[in-house]
Amino acid sequence: MMRRNGDEHMKPARRRLLKLGVGGGVGVLAAGGLLAVDALRPPRLAVRPWQAAADDGPVDLAAGLAADLRVRLLARAILAPNPHNRQPWLFTLPAGQPDLVAIGCDLDKRLPETDPFDRQITIGFGCLIELLRLVALAQGVAVSIQPLPEGMPDTRAGGRLDARPVALVRFDRAGTVSDADRAAALRLVDALPDRRSTKEPFDDRALTGTEASAVLGLAAGAAGTAGGGWAGAPAAPAAMIAPAVVAAVRAIAWQAWVIEAETPAAFMESVRLMRIGRAEIDANPDGIALGGPKLQLLHRLGLLSRTDLADPDSDATALGRQIYDRMIAQTPAFLAVATADDGGRASELAAGAAWMRLDLAAAASGLAVHPVSQALQEFPEMAPAFQAMHQTVMAAGGPAFRQSLPAVAGDANLRLQMLGRFGHGPHIPPSPRHPVSAALRT
Ligand SMILES: Cc1cc2nc3c(=O)[nH]c(=O)nc-3n(C[C@H](O)[C@H](O)[C@H](O)COP(=O)(O)O)c2cc1C
Repeated sequence: MMRRNGDEHMKPARRRLLKLGVGGGVGVLAAGGLLAVDALRPPRLAVRPWQAAADDGPVDLAAGLAADLRVRLLARAILAPNPHNRQPWLFTLPAGQPDLVAIGCDLDKRLPETDPFDRQITIGFGCLIELLRLVALAQGVAVSIQPLPEGMPDTRAGGRLDARPVALVRFDRAGTVSDADRAAALRLVDALPDRRSTKEPFDDRALTGTEASAVLGLAAGAAGTAGGGWAGAPAAPAAMIAPAVVAAVRAIAWQAWVIEAETPAAFMESVRLMRIGRAEIDANPDGIALGGPKLQLLHRLGLLSRTDLADPDSDATALGRQIYDRMIAQTPAFLAVATADDGGRASELAAGAAWMRLDLAAAASGLAVHPVSQALQEFPEMAPAFQAMHQTVMAAGGPAFRQSLPAVAGDANLRLQMLGRFGHGPHIPPSPRHPVSAALRT
């Protein structure tokens, strides 16, 4: 009862905040006085894994583990992008096999409403494993990756991941990494501390053809397999979406975001994973972190709670809408990764690997990327946006993808696996991570 009265009382203030929107935070902060200073403090524990990786130090690792090359490389690989930052990975370090890591999925960390066949979760594993490969190559350690060593149910057959390993990764310290492979990997890995999924509006400034080609070239240059790589990976070409359809892609991406927000089960899956404010984020460094100074301040002022976020009619939800609307509107370009529409896990892993290289190549070039996946999701309500996005992108970009996918030339279907905003964006703080030790199994 008290709370309801409090809410009533807050309503006009909420409306003012909504009007101020994301850009109005500074005025609110000025009015917030001491509270603002506190709210400005970012999460601390949640970003320690970034420091650990940058220092290659033993943060959060017992002495024995810190000496293990596999663990040091994995401590960097966990900085990979992954859906809703669920970090679903489990690393088994088999006794007596010091060069082997078996990578599996924590099946409780999947996203069954928005990702009913675990396609996006598998793409996230592709990102992780590719980053592991690159950080190893950058240190001159050869790698071989055996994806899906025991098989895995396909997406198209309606399958989901199970307890079998997603991949086995073997490091070969005695193996040879060519200078060219090492240099290409280093170019990308050097940008790892700066990589982000930049969930912010981008500059209006258009991307030049030179900038876009530099990113695509850097990414492609690190895909080589000599000296260690993926066994039998399918092609997963990347391309920039043709400028002529960018406005249409923006419109469909927004429509898809609204469909997800208006599908209660999908919406609530995200709400349950929201961590609001520094204390929650440090305690649960995963999921959707609402931790910027402005959102933290709204939370501290009692204007942004989980109850508000779960209410489709609340001002907090309306503010979220405003934030995403602005973000999608301020997107000068999109990158995409496609594969053959074979419903295979190997294609999804390859798409993740391709996205990882694009993400790092963008960071290395001072540019920003941000996946926007709603229109690529498979839950039934999304079908119209899914079709519209495929038709729009493939009509304009299909030929570019097909050139790199000779196996699906002609009218055979292509599957868009990743779509991401691409442009000049602000440099934002890193997203939270659990320490690598949280995922280790011996
Ligand atoms: C397959 C995949 C799909 C994703 N889809 C979205 C998306 O639709 N919207 C979004 O804001 N971020 C999306 N992301 C980005 C993740 O939310 C992000 O990687 C995660 O929160 C960790 O943040 P970081 O990438 O900045 O480290 C996606 C990432 C992956 C790998």
